[in-house]
Amino acid sequence: MCCEKQEIDLTGKTIVLTGATSGIGFASVKKLASSGAYVIGVGRSETRNQKALEGIQNAFPNAHVDYLFADLASQDQVKKLAEDIKVLLQGHEINAVDVLVNNAGIYLEKKQTTKEGIEQTFAVNHLAAFLLSHELMPLLQASNQGRIITVSSYSHRNTPLIINRLDNPWPYIGLLAYKRSKLCNILFSYEFNRRHDNKVTAIALDPGLVDTSIASKGSNGISDWVWRLRRKDGESPDVPAESIAYLAGVENLDTSHGYFYRNCDPETPSIKARSEDLAEKLWQCSCELTNIIW
Ligand SMILES: NC(=O)c1ccc[n+]([C@@H]2O[C@H](COP(=O)([O-])OP(=O)(O)OC[C@H]3O[C@@H](n4cnc5c(N)ncnc54)[C@H](OP(=O)(O)O)[C@@H]3O)[C@@H](O)[C@H]2O)c1
Repeated sequence: MCCEKQEIDLTGKTIVLTGATSGIGFASVKKLASSGAYVIGVGRSETRNQKALEGIQNAFPNAHVDYLFADLASQDQVKKLAEDIKVLLQGHEINAVDVLVNNAGIYLEKKQTTKEGIEQTFAVNHLAAFLLSHELMPLLQASNQGRIITVSSYSHRNTPLIINRLDNPWPYIGLLAYKRSKLCNILFSYEFNRRHDNKVTAIALDPGLVDTSIASKGSNGISDWVWRLRRKDGESPDVPAESIAYLAGVENLDTSHGYFYRNCDPETPSIKARSEDLAEKLWQCSCELTNIIW
């Protein structure tokens, strides 16, 4: 894996990372901060934010890390988060975000909807990443080398996607909802790069199978049981944390193949994930569902 060949120095970089309280996100905050970056971690619980911050400060006393609260299932809170980030950066006299890592993600065995009436897996895993990227665009464009890294998955493959049932899929199958949202992450990244000059680059990342609690949090039934068996074969979250640090900091990111990475190596996503037509429709639909023009 190429990330092992190169120690990345992130000194001077400002990185916003969602889902920073556990699993891949928590490991990534430690890796990014210990590599010199100023990291703003985002979590949905003040208590878990505080615990994560203390864990990082104990391990790396010189780490420059702040945590902000936002439940990304709420579009109002995503917008407020962007405002809170701007205020925090002004306080530090920082005028750019170099890297946004859209890492927060959920798996829900049973269907839940947000207060906007949107199916929650789609809302958190895709729409929140879409909206936060939009809200932080001026700060990302102020960077010399802005990047948006969205944590997707191998599971995007062999996934049906019906555009007019995105926000409220029927019938609801938790695994399918999850796979669809991870396909959306890649479609978003490709479409972003089609629509923007290369001052900001969007990359989707497959972190591989990782030993975290993700599927157990949204289930106390069969999915929890299956996941507890499956995660035993997963890598430590420190492995994708290395990849995120690599993608955040490598000078000449190879995008000649496209905008999908499996850990530190470029990989070709599914044919559907590269569909321009589907990506364009997803973009339009995401704008409508978040009430933005982009
Ligand atoms: N584990 C794997 O094998 C694997 C494979 C492929 C892709 N991924 C992707 O990797 C990413 C990280 O997942 P993980 O495996 O590290 O799972 P995890 O430990 O459950 O981490 C998910 C993070 O997202 C946060 N989060 C969930 N819902 C949120 C919301 N509404 N608002 C704000 N934050 C929220 C969680 O907060 P709490 O701490 O409060 O729960 C947690 O910090 C996800 O996008 C997932 O799809 C994981």
